[in-house]
Amino acid sequence: MRKRASVITGVLAALLATTAFAQQPKGETGKDIAYNRSKGNCLACHGFPTLPDAEQTGNSGPPLIAMKERFPDKKVLRDKIWDATATNPFSIMPPFGKHGGMTSEEVDKVVDFLYGL
Ligand code: HEC
Repeated sequence: MRKRASVITGVLAALLATTAFAQQPKGETGKDIAYNRSKGNCLACHGFPTLPDAEQTGNSGPPLIAMKERFPDKKVLRDKIWDATATNPFSIMPPFGKHGGMTSEEVDKVVDFLYGL
């Protein structure tokens, strides 16, 4: 009986551990966030000419290419993702940081991802 109880405890502990693990935020990369339709959803509006797996991209925003060269100051790029309306009040790009669609950390990851394009 004692043994059985410990088996049950063990199984319960394992289940709890799995649940706790599942609730941890997944180690999403900047690319995951950018591609995620319910996060960045960047593909809805931007082409990614250097990425063959960027399919069905929209073109209401400029293609995202050569970002490092075009945005030598990384902060300018970050500010754009944080709140595009700050520099362009008419921008239809969602202000991801300002509206809380992305955490500060997620914005950083996306900026790093863009810098590799
Ligand atoms: C609803 C459409 C839309 C979505 C979604 C969107 N953007 Fe944009 N984006 C635009 C438009 C339109 C512009 C050009 C106007 C402006 O500068 O605000 C733009 C401009 C930009 C620029 C400046 C590009 C340049 O060449 O000057 C960057 C960088 C950018 N977007 C990155 C992103 C990233 C990264 C995502 C996803 C996290 C994203 N955008 C999601 C519409 C969008």
